[in-house]
Amino acid sequence: MCGIIGVVGSDETLATLLQGLERLEYRGYDSAGIALVRAGHTWRARTAEGTESVAALRLECKDAPQDYRSGIGHTRWATHGAPEAENAHPHLDCSGHVAIIHNGIIENHAQLREELSQRGHHFTSVTDTEVVAHLVEELRARGLDLLDAVRHALLRVRGAFAIAVMDASEPDVIVAARRISPLVVGTAPGVSYLASDVPAILDRATAFYAVNDDEVVRLGPEGFRAVDLEGAPVRLRQLQIDWDLETAEKGGFDDFMSKEIAEQPDAVFATLLDRQRGDGTIVFDELRISDQELREVRRVVLVACGTSLHAAQVAKYAIERWARLSVDVDIASEYRYRDPIVEIGTLVIGVSQSGETIDTIQATREAQRRGARVVAISNIVDSSLAREADAVIYTRAGLEVSVASTKAFVAQVAALELLALRLAQLRETLTTSEIEALLGGLHEISGQIATALSRRGDVDAVATQLLHAHDYFFIGRHVGFPTALEGALKLKEITYMHAEGYAAGELKHGPLALIEPGVIVVAVTTDANMHEKILSNVAEVKARGATVIAVAADDDEQIGAVADFVLRVPRTDPMFTPMIDIVPLQLLAYSLARGLGRNVDRPRNLAKTVTVE
Ligand code: F6R
Repeated sequence: MCGIIGVVGSDETLATLLQGLERLEYRGYDSAGIALVRAGHTWRARTAEGTESVAALRLECKDAPQDYRSGIGHTRWATHGAPEAENAHPHLDCSGHVAIIHNGIIENHAQLREELSQRGHHFTSVTDTEVVAHLVEELRARGLDLLDAVRHALLRVRGAFAIAVMDASEPDVIVAARRISPLVVGTAPGVSYLASDVPAILDRATAFYAVNDDEVVRLGPEGFRAVDLEGAPVRLRQLQIDWDLETAEKGGFDDFMSKEIAEQPDAVFATLLDRQRGDGTIVFDELRISDQELREVRRVVLVACGTSLHAAQVAKYAIERWARLSVDVDIASEYRYRDPIVEIGTLVIGVSQSGETIDTIQATREAQRRGARVVAISNIVDSSLAREADAVIYTRAGLEVSVASTKAFVAQVAALELLALRLAQLRETLTTSEIEALLGGLHEISGQIATALSRRGDVDAVATQLLHAHDYFFIGRHVGFPTALEGALKLKEITYMHAEGYAAGELKHGPLALIEPGVIVVAVTTDANMHEKILSNVAEVKARGATVIAVAADDDEQIGAVADFVLRVPRTDPMFTPMIDIVPLQLLAYSLARGLGRNVDRPRNLAKTVTVE
């Protein structure tokens, strides 16, 4: 998983590439590199400085020639080959004329490398990508133009790619292609661009186009033309982009994570906006599945990864309780490979902030192959998942840049719970007044999140006392359980401390053996229906010496007697609590991470969008 960018025909080639790479860093930052190309010459710079790779590349390019009008750039999240400069992209062929950048994995690279080596090609990296440079080199030597050479090279390749290739003997051309990994093309008068996503070229291009799987695009200063892998012309679909650049910047916050945590009331508000007709019917304009089809659903399967998986786990409770449908939640990377059963009437919901997570896309493809109807819950309009699904519901959280997902989670829960209510409405498993009451509660969540955010000082005060701690357990029951999982995930990914999320009732079946003085237990206690049970679990860990932090409702008068620290949140219907309870847990992780000097936006070893399996 990496970020790619390219520009052809520009007076500001270097600036465009460096700025684009800065915006793509969230996709990976083990190393970075660019190649500038003009007739007969390729100028290349590469750095491998971990999270500082793009900054180091900017320095390295201080004396770069300014008169190159075309180039490509890459920021890498290492898969094949260590994060070292020689494995950084762009990679070159033997002549040094063909330069290539790639996001994805070439699965048959070993066999291709073997063949190419036998024919005398010399490799300078251990990446899977470099084989494509040498394949293109051979095809160019046979007289194919760059478009055809790349196309024929890709016919030999198995795996996933968003790729861009240049050749110094055809310097005003970039050929780009896609299979699975994301790729967009942009145009402005006299200049063409490509990138892994729109923000990288947002303020340069004036029109944006989506490239689909197995399409190859030839970009030049005059524009682009696209073909399929057989060479037949195809039309790229123009994207409607309504972001401005400011949405992609920090807006006065220290980092994207704190900005995005603060944006959560808006994320929920916008996601719920305009979803109800005057007669009370819940509507999703973008949901292209008929009411009749939804009525005929017999089983729901949710597939997702990471934070989105936790949102999906919350949805299981809501759909089962309100719509009385049986729901399974699957880890997307497991679903595809375990020969899943898809019966008639199975609705599969793929939940993904980016809509580009390859595990989730592959899981929904598998479900479609087996006959399921697929609904995507995506935060990115026209994402791959959204395009491929039979229907989509967009969360409207706005662009999420920080690697640790926050506002996308609350927006996903809001969208999924609204869908659960729609299913209940269609199946008549709740009365009109019950639905009205729940919708009323749902519309209050945005304000309640704002209240939880205003108590940030309480969380900071707890965090300063815990900087020495190393072991955390997050426990909860019912929807407090996925909330606990999400709280633990936030803590581990940005503080690098050991944290586990557990169903509180499961502790006594093993993990209780790990509880001793020094261990911190964070208990989600807001579910009124489960209150007594969770208090018993808190007592169990207290008795074994744990320090307990409770997330508790404002009106909970018992909690003070059992917890060491209490983080208060507004009272709401139990099903809505994850959207509020997660706020102090996000703030706790954030505050501890800052206290420990971590880079909250760019945690080590992680990337924002995971486009490799
Ligand atoms: C955690 C996090 C990841 C993502 C996961 C799925 O903070 O961000 O666990 O939730 O990689 O990403 P999407 O939702 O884009 O499919």
